Amino acid sequence: MKLKNCLLLFLAVMLLCGSVLVDVGSADSGSKRHKRRFLPPVDNALYSEECASCHFLYLPGLLPAGSWTKVMEGAEDHFGEDLALETETSTEILKYLKANSAETTGAKRSVKIMKSLKGETPLRITEIRYIVKEHREIRSKVFTRESIGSFSNCGACHRTADKGIFEEDDIKIPRK
Ligand code: HEC
Ligand code: HEC
Repeated sequence: MKLKNCLLLFLAVMLLCGSVLVDVGSADSGSKRHKRRFLPPVDNALYSEECASCHFLYLPGLLPAGSWTKVMEGAEDHFGEDLALETETSTEILKYLKANSAETTGAKRSVKIMKSLKGETPLRITEIRYIVKEHREIRSKVFTRESIGSFSNCGACHRTADKGIFEEDDIKIPRK
């Protein structure tokens, strides 16, 4: 190889490494890599207001649009509770949930959820095969511990769940 070609190749390799390093370095929530790894956190005031008083504020990227539609259409008998929402409020929340559902985020866990559902639209995240499989080693008694309550209480163990981060390093199962 001529010296000039060698130099060009060297430069090209350096540029490639550089862009990889920049990508790894940008752990801020706006980066592409962050978006692929983590679910987008909730950024809707109405949804936060209406849907977090009884339980963890589920990230829209954890269910497909069809499930969110069922959840909102069934708001009068929501797991035994009547949510008593105004039609307008309900429509607005559903619009937000559908626009940010598992089909839309591109985050790896949304992608896995969609794959494992094969077109199903369950009412619960805790019924999704992929989610069930990831927790199969946890004994059912653990979920009923006082500070956990149930499998549905994602934030009790996933300390960064509200940020859309479900990494192993951020899990801590409360002892009581
Ligand atoms: C009055 C209390 C209350 C409010 C307010 C409420 N929920 Fe729930 N929700 C429940 C109960 C109870 C369950 C069942 C929890 C369990 O089994 O541990 C539940 C479960 C869920 C689940 C299934 C969780 C799972 O197991 O995967 C979703 C999704 C959900 N709610 C969405 C919503 C949305 C969206 C709103 C706002 C429109 C909302 N909830 C507001 C009481 C409430
Ligand atoms: C009792 C504690 C606990 C609760 C409650 C819980 N999880 Fe987990 N979760 C775990 C543990 C432990 C693992 C397995 C970590 C491992 O072995 O990789 C896990 C794994 C996961 C994974 C896979 C992470 C990976 O490594 O790819 C996802 C996604 C997840 N949980 C989401 C949820 C969601 C959503 C909820 C609520 C509906 C929830 N979890 C409720 C403890 C919990």
